[in-house]
Amino acid sequence: MSTPSAIESVLVENRVFEPSEATVKAARISGMDGYNALCAEAAADFEGFWARLARENVVWNKPFTKTLDESNAPFYKWFEDGELNASYNCLDKHMGTPNENKTAVIFEADGGEVTKTTYKELLAKVSQFANALKSRGINKGDRVLIYMPMTLEGVVAMQACARIGATHSVVFGGFSAKALQERIIDAGAVAVVTANFQMRGGKELPLKAIVDEGLSLGGCESIKTVLVFERTPTACNMVAGRDMTFTEALAGQSTECAPVMVGAEHPLFILFTSGSTGKPKGVQHATGGFVLWAKLTMDWTFDLRADDVFWCTADIGWITGHAYVAYGPLAAGATQIIFEGVPTYPNAGRFWQMIERHKCSIFYTAPTAIRSLIKSAESDAKVHPDASDLSSLRILGSVGEPINPEAWMWYYKNVGKEKCPIVDTFWQTETGGHMITPLPGATPLVPGSCTLPLPGIMAAIVDEAGHDVPNGSGGMLVIKRPWPSMIRTIWGDPERFKASYFPAEMGGTYYLAGDGAVRSADRGYFRITGRIDDVLNVSGHRMGTMEIESALVAKTDLVAEAAVVGRPDDLTGEAICAFVVLKRGVPTGDEAKAIAKQLRDWVAKEIGPIAKPKDIRFGENLPKTRSGKIMRRLLRSLAKGESITQDTSTLENPAILSQLGQAY
Ligand code: WTA
Repeated sequence: MSTPSAIESVLVENRVFEPSEATVKAARISGMDGYNALCAEAAADFEGFWARLARENVVWNKPFTKTLDESNAPFYKWFEDGELNASYNCLDKHMGTPNENKTAVIFEADGGEVTKTTYKELLAKVSQFANALKSRGINKGDRVLIYMPMTLEGVVAMQACARIGATHSVVFGGFSAKALQERIIDAGAVAVVTANFQMRGGKELPLKAIVDEGLSLGGCESIKTVLVFERTPTACNMVAGRDMTFTEALAGQSTECAPVMVGAEHPLFILFTSGSTGKPKGVQHATGGFVLWAKLTMDWTFDLRADDVFWCTADIGWITGHAYVAYGPLAAGATQIIFEGVPTYPNAGRFWQMIERHKCSIFYTAPTAIRSLIKSAESDAKVHPDASDLSSLRILGSVGEPINPEAWMWYYKNVGKEKCPIVDTFWQTETGGHMITPLPGATPLVPGSCTLPLPGIMAAIVDEAGHDVPNGSGGMLVIKRPWPSMIRTIWGDPERFKASYFPAEMGGTYYLAGDGAVRSADRGYFRITGRIDDVLNVSGHRMGTMEIESALVAKTDLVAEAAVVGRPDDLTGEAICAFVVLKRGVPTGDEAKAIAKQLRDWVAKEIGPIAKPKDIRFGENLPKTRSGKIMRRLLRSLAKGESITQDTSTLENPAILSQLGQAY
């Protein structure tokens, strides 16, 4: 929520870091003049601008003749009669060029083993896997659910789907069996690609067992095939006729597979994300626009060069791992690091040690990771960035949540040694790629600000009626014109797509991001102040409050009613705070602690461990108005530990506020 103090700190943040002359000179988009020229080109001829970029950055099997079709807005179509293949654009196009034998992926396993794969080798792996999918009867248009650890094989599975025109839906390995089942049903998937186990922080954690459990919950009859990557030697349950190991599936398959050309609007993937209502939504992305933007933002935002070693730490289960692990770096011909493990194993210096080991030059991570590593580094010199040689770094990036100026400064000084620009990239699952971000060789940096929209991205801040607000006043972030990598629809629910993102009150064509924002009075720089809907951002992971509430009330033997709000947290950005009314009265002391644990475990089972409430508060009721509406504003104050100064005279039951004061 945009609070007055957040806006104030924008206005008082006056540290500015200009890019060095050498950086500006060497950069692809050079200086603010370079940036302004591109913006002017987009403003003068919007479609011509995008058509030029799409011709220069995508290999088309059949060229498009129409750039943008707005006739059925907001169901926009880009490059519709063009044909391409995403995997071709990431792999085949490098064959016969100097990239053919270049390392595409440096994979570092949880335990430290390193494997390198060239573009040519990766093409062979992807083709072979694509043939395995085909031999199981999987074809263009089928949906394949991918539930994999952070491994090369996860990327191979995604690319193989793209190669045959199958639409993938990756589910993060931390989601529960129930969450998996819901996504399989919603997507109507025909196959699951998974692993027997995943390795995280030295621990072997089951994945296939969760798939089995999810499928056993019912409604998943569409699944005919489960392919199981043998990540560890440990055996797992296999169902005859349905399940096959990777070894079995790949045996005898050719390492050549002709890419299936698809129309530009063909759904490349569906990725589920949380919204403000209970059910997660399947965000559908189109092949042409997504590939264009993934490739182009690698060049623009990261100013990628041939000798860069790029590392995006995001999991392939999130949009960042789609755009900046599975597609962008490959489409741009980069060498990238893929890391299986966690930043704190075997110690909290792992990221810095890996940067040194692999001579990483562009490092892209989330503020939560930075904040947690600051804590460790400041208490143990051995895991401080100073203990590693980070001289290979030239650009740093941040993504997923607002980065507070303190964390920004620490990152800038200790990791970047005051010579690496930080690109604070604002974007969303729905936007498909970066929207508002500094450019390393152009934009003067202001800590905590994502600065200016990329050329062609018509971002603005408006009031409820869609009117622009002046710089310095907060409002709602919108994007006024469509862009190629935008969400096409919510899978199977076009009405929800329209209602969630293109509010009629604003004319029905502005894309509503769901974030509050404010532009600085002097430079017009954007600063994101947080979600304005019922979506929380916990450690950069999106969670819907309604989703967690539904999970809690599904515990019908215990819970009568529940309300969930966010509160600020120094480490995770926001923390989940649940207010719970039990069927059996208000517990206290050890009993309350035990029930709180039971509820947390329940939520982990219903959604996944990332959705566990940090605080649980019990009351005999929730604060409600006389008409029965839950007063979330009061709950947010309680969650923050503020004393209630608001007027509570409209409250039906003011006495319960004191009960809800105790967190378990
Ligand atoms: C938040 C992640 C401030 C924002 C790519 C958005 C950010 C939500 C930033 C999308 C940033 C992402 N500064 N806030 N640089 N990047 N956000 O869909 O609230 O997982 O709406 O996509 O994260 O989260 P999602």
